Amino acid sequence: VFNPDEQVWERFFAATRGQPAWGRLMKAASMFDQPGDALDVGAGAGRDTAYLLEHGWRVTAVDASPAAVKLLRGIGPEDRLRVVRSPAEDFEPETYDLVNAQFSLPFIAPARFVATVSRLQGAVRPGGVMAVTFFGPRDEWNVPGAEITFTTKDEVERLFDGWHVVELTEVEQDGTTATGGAKHWDVIHVIAGSGPGRKGRPRA
Ligand SMILES: C[S@@+](CC[C@H](N)C(=O)[O-])C[C@H]1O[C@@H](n2cnc3c(N)ncnc32)[C@H](O)[C@@H]1O
Repeated sequence: VFNPDEQVWERFFAATRGQPAWGRLMKAASMFDQPGDALDVGAGAGRDTAYLLEHGWRVTAVDASPAAVKLLRGIGPEDRLRVVRSPAEDFEPETYDLVNAQFSLPFIAPARFVATVSRLQGAVRPGGVMAVTFFGPRDEWNVPGAEITFTTKDEVERLFDGWHVVELTEVEQDGTTATGGAKHWDVIHVIAGSGPGRKGRPRA
């Protein structure tokens, strides 16, 4: 059973530090005429946070891992970067133009998953964008005892009911992990825009 601990994440950070940002984060950022406020949830070694900062965004980077927080604090510039050490489940968001969570939300256990996703969705300003990754049910890590949340494509579609869905794709393939192990991946990628008056957004 793959239940990653701090040591596992530290190996992941060593492998991904300085890697380019995820394409879908760059695509989501490119939907704006000018940079604004972004939230990067489970920011890790900071590939997406660094990209956003380089492109003029103000970024709040949240991660549960002390090692991640240390790396994130080193990215700077301090006047546009706020780093918060917190599990996503306990983080009280403000509101943002862009909410990004690449390969992080599935590591929230099922009992708190939906409430956390809803809270993050509610933190997207009208006209804002959310870019997020889910793990599908055929992912190799989906075995009894895993404290990871797997969601079907149908469930993800329901989560984004009422959003302007720009992309919602499931990619299932044999590949490798960041640290080099073989893995069968089932990943659902979402880029969605929030509009005023849409359904499915909790009212403050
Ligand atoms: C696979 S890494 C992805 C990191 C980064 N988003 C990237 O794509 O490179 C998952 C990240 O989520 C963080 N994480 C895991 N569980 C978390 C939780 N419950 N709340 C916040 N962060 C969490 C880990 O510390 C790690 O940095």
